[in-house]
Amino acid sequence: MHLKHLSLTNFRNFARLDIDLPRRVILLVGDNAQGKTSILEAIYFLASFTSFQTNTDRQMVNFVEAKNSLAVARLVAEYERNKKRHKLEARLILESTGINGQRLRKEVLLDGVKKQINEIIGHFNAVIFVPQMSGIIEDGPEERRRYLNLALAPTIREYAGVLSDYNQALSQRNALLKALSENGGSGDQLEVWDETLTRLGAQIIQWRIEAVQQIERLATRVHQELTRGREVLRLNYQPAYDPLPPISMKLTTDTDRSSLKADEIQKGFLARLKEIRSEEIARGVTTIGPHRDELRFLANGIDLGDYGSRGQIRTTLLALKLAEVNWM
Ligand SMILES: Nc1ncnc2c1ncn2[C@@H]1O[C@H](COP(=O)(O)OP(=O)(O)O)[C@@H](O)[C@H]1O
Ligand SMILES: [Mg+2]
Repeated sequence: MHLKHLSLTNFRNFARLDIDLPRRVILLVGDNAQGKTSILEAIYFLASFTSFQTNTDRQMVNFVEAKNSLAVARLVAEYERNKKRHKLEARLILESTGINGQRLRKEVLLDGVKKQINEIIGHFNAVIFVPQMSGIIEDGPEERRRYLNLALAPTIREYAGVLSDYNQALSQRNALLKALSENGGSGDQLEVWDETLTRLGAQIIQWRIEAVQQIERLATRVHQELTRGREVLRLNYQPAYDPLPPISMKLTTDTDRSSLKADEIQKGFLARLKEIRSEEIARGVTTIGPHRDELRFLANGIDLGDYGSRGQIRTTLLALKLAEVNWM
């Protein structure tokens, strides 16, 4: 895949930017605050439809433009893939909703046709590495789940769709658990949600098992080169519903779940939900499943999230990102 042309309108500090990109390594050089990082952000946005810099999408809309009652930021990538030319366009539309209110809407078009984000992820690929991403290793588990989702969605065709269905089933199930916890009632009502949640959840777990194993293999190789063979990197996927709980704490990194099929995982997941049903009703929330998964990074058996040095964390991130490129 080759990005040939990038065009930005009202994106960050760019009222308008049009650049041709040659097919080779490109260095962006400039003073502070010229918009170098914003260009990377724009390119990555077109691949993931999320910013690596902010959780507030409206911040990407040029702030002078955003004062208007209707403001639109447009990002357009013209790229070649499998010898075909494509045009991908993302629009961030800020509309005023009355007194002081503003609402942001995203639209995505592939070759001029409007698409759902879930069906389009993976058409335009990018991997981003910036040193301030160390949160993937150092911060809470939600950062690592976010990383997993962003890495897997472009490569596994149905991932984004299944994940969003899972999250929907999860919030319905949580709402029911909460209602049962507050008002009582028959726990049997949970059955349809249990079925949906475990079917989708098992599929996500199976994808994550497979992907983490493949990415680990690639990352370990790069990491070994970067550390001149001094360190061995391991990626330790810890599913909150674990279809194959480690036999002992020591063996956690060596548990091989790779031969499990999604329907086998679902069976066990469903049975486990039954076992903990009364506990979950009491707590009013779903306590196991991919929304609680964890992924740990270890060098020579030492957990980098807890004990990694600055240098070790950067090296690991770089290895992880290069592995992601190869994996993709
Ligand atoms: N929504 C926005 N509207 C206008 N300018 C913005 C917006 N968001 C950020 N900026 C500004 O864009 C400039 C470019 O930022 P950045 O891309 O980080 O620069 P660089 O990486 O080249 O140092 C900064 O001055 C920043 O304040
Ligand atoms: Mg910068």
